[in-house]
Amino acid sequence: MSGMLRLTVLGAGYLGITHAACMASLGFEVLGVDTDQGKVDQLNAGNLPIYEPGLRQLLRAGLDARRVTFTTSYHSAAEFGDVHFICTDTPQRPGSNHADLSQVHACVATLAPLLDRPCLVVGKSTVPVGTARRLAAELSQACPGADLAWNPEFLREGTAVTDTLSPDRIVVGVTSGRAEEILRRIYARPLVSGTAFIVTSLETAELAKAAANAFLATKISFINAMAEICETAGGDVRGLAHILGADPRIGPAFLRAGLGYGGGCLPKDIRAFIARAEELGCGVSLTFLREVDGINLRRRARTADLALELAGGNLSGVPVCVLGAAFKPGSDDVRDSPALDVAQILTGMGARVTVYDPAALGNARRIRPELGYADTLAAAARGAHVVLLLTEWPEFIALTPGGLGGLVARRNIVDARNVLDPGAWRKAGWDYRALGVVEGLESARRSARAVPLIHDQLTDR
Ligand code: UDX
Repeated sequence: MSGMLRLTVLGAGYLGITHAACMASLGFEVLGVDTDQGKVDQLNAGNLPIYEPGLRQLLRAGLDARRVTFTTSYHSAAEFGDVHFICTDTPQRPGSNHADLSQVHACVATLAPLLDRPCLVVGKSTVPVGTARRLAAELSQACPGADLAWNPEFLREGTAVTDTLSPDRIVVGVTSGRAEEILRRIYARPLVSGTAFIVTSLETAELAKAAANAFLATKISFINAMAEICETAGGDVRGLAHILGADPRIGPAFLRAGLGYGGGCLPKDIRAFIARAEELGCGVSLTFLREVDGINLRRRARTADLALELAGGNLSGVPVCVLGAAFKPGSDDVRDSPALDVAQILTGMGARVTVYDPAALGNARRIRPELGYADTLAAAARGAHVVLLLTEWPEFIALTPGGLGGLVARRNIVDARNVLDPGAWRKAGWDYRALGVVEGLESARRSARAVPLIHDQLTDR
């Protein structure tokens, strides 16, 4: 494979679109493949089906330069590509903790018989350890000249472009020097800028992603467990996180206590990791991750409980304003969104919930049509008896006690992301509650009554 490598990107989801546009911006010719004709047409027209800062411009620049284009044809992909990146989704299997690998398997099963010349297939999807080794065998049987490598992706939503073009590290699991050499050529630009290039086995590369996500989730649930202790003991988790983070061995990142983690990655990847360990007979090694998941889900119930407390113990017919639907700010992703779960719990408790989000309303309406929505913050807040801040969008952080106070009927607020200044809100007459902080032990004891978990996606608990 001499000259400029031609790349295909199989699967045009979050990962695939970002990877295709970024690789085109590095100067490669890229063919993106997806089975959804509508999505392919949209992408070829320069329209993004996701909200991701900077990605639309990058995609359009690639389309204009004719360096990236999208198709539904695997025949074209096999003909075009020297390197094929597998970027298909691996969602949680319904009714199970396992990852659903059907899209990855379908992708390889479709591509492999069409390959008739030496090429490299590079897995980027998050898969259970052991998957790559099986796929490598399948691939080499269908096409002896095809090699397989695993190159996990650590991109975050909201910073996907920077994370792809300037990652912290590039991890490649390979079984040949040729695969390593090709991947070094593809990532030449970030490598020149000093990005670490870590060459390892297929298994370690697969585990790198699962372990990184497990560690991040554990860090969040650790501080949220401390929040639970603070709520009973009368401590302040924000101060505690600050103190812990000042220790360079711990560090401040991922110690923001609050409503916990959600999204299309951390929750399902943690569950798939647990399921895979059990399958391998070493489930006990990851028993603690069940607790990590449990702590995370308990924060949702606790948030609903605080709203119930502010409403005087009865939410039936009470107008409630929910600020936030996305799983985190800077994203329109509502997959496993803590905010929507809380809105759902409150609705189940009889509240008249109105949700507002600056970016994720369309997606939220689609997956949770039973909830109430408003197109503006003012419309959502008007007449509310309780406000809950569930996703820390900048426009919510910038809210003033007076401004919001002019809209609501009663000044009750749950700051589930710990982003407001409690003193300022209380001074303006708000009954302010947050996760991981209570005014005194009495109030902690009053609120200790737990709302039963109506949402628990971790099965077999
Ligand atoms: C995550 C990983 O960071 C990324 O490396 C991987 O490739 C995909 O999964 P992402 O899902 O985009 O990325 O979001 P991230 O920024 O990691 O946040 C995950 C969740 O944790 C969000 O719901 C966020 O609100 C929550 N979070 C994060 C906290 O509750 N507290 C924190 O301190 C940090």
